[in-house]
Amino acid sequence: MLSQNKVLNSGAKRWGLKLGAQSVVAGTNIEEMVKSVKELNANGISATIDNLGEFVFEKKEAIQAKKKILAVIEAIYQHQLDAHISLKPTQLGQDIDYNFCLENLSEIVENAYKHNVFINFDMEDHGHLQSSFDLIDELSKDYDNIGTVIQAYFYNAKDVIAKYKNHRLRIVKGAYKESEDVAFQDKKDIDQNFIELIEYHLLHGKFTSIATHDHQIINHVKKFAKKNNIPTEKYEFQMLYGFRKDMQLSLAKEGYNFCTYVPFGVDWYGYFMRRLAERPQNLNLVAKQTFNK
Ligand code: FDA
Repeated sequence: MLSQNKVLNSGAKRWGLKLGAQSVVAGTNIEEMVKSVKELNANGISATIDNLGEFVFEKKEAIQAKKKILAVIEAIYQHQLDAHISLKPTQLGQDIDYNFCLENLSEIVENAYKHNVFINFDMEDHGHLQSSFDLIDELSKDYDNIGTVIQAYFYNAKDVIAKYKNHRLRIVKGAYKESEDVAFQDKKDIDQNFIELIEYHLLHGKFTSIATHDHQIINHVKKFAKKNNIPTEKYEFQMLYGFRKDMQLSLAKEGYNFCTYVPFGVDWYGYFMRRLAERPQNLNLVAKQTFNK
């Protein structure tokens, strides 16, 4: 797969942000990321910070990633940022050894707990799903500062959301290529399931992050929340850094909680390629960035 191309990925680490990635990636180091988050916070927008990296197969790399995430928690605390963490279990050793990954995650979650920082477990492809939920179940025995993501393209998403309704949840359409054995393929079916999941969690769940750039879904949610008297403290909208910036600002100005997903780091290539694959029109964004110097 394009986004998993190891050779290009390691080349990209050395290049710095190229190909227009600087418009959707908030820098390669903590300093640059903090500056971006402060700008968002100044506009009434909170952040969920992702130290980029995934599909890690070496213990050394997973430990490095853990240290980086601990440093991000420290930066959130030091700079009093309105922010939390998003992480991917595959970056912390999920494909190396379950218990090694659990140890890394425990250290992060415990440290975040002490600093009053929330940790969101991003959800990856279907092959990693069950083990990610196992990790979350294990950690939820001791900590309540964790939540995760429900991907609406999976047929079983409604069962999963019912099980995790006492967690803070981000609901998304789903970003990975999945087989028809496990996931809806048709946009109409995915959108329908997405709406039903959002409505369920708004009515019965703890806190809902509605993560989409789809204005039709956002408008539907606004009307649904109003009609059902869902207080604004119970939900937020989320979008990715650099996408639909005007809409991000206007939703925050309208008084909705808004949180931007802020990816940063040298490992930007896979993330960037997935965004292009999802929506080829994103190339427009890249083109503008490349030519408007
Ligand atoms: P989609 O791409 O379906 O677009 C619907 C319509 O919205 C388009 O036809 C267009 O009209 C409009 N639109 C969309 N993007 C636009 C743009 N840039 N400019 C103008 N109009 C636009 N996935 C996953 O599997 N695991 C995860 O953990 C996460 N986490 C995550 C966090 C956050 C904050 C977000 C926003 C997304 C994710 N995702 C994810 C990705 C998600 O599953 C999904 O792949 C993408 O968000 C794309 O779907 P959308 O709902 O944004 O709209």
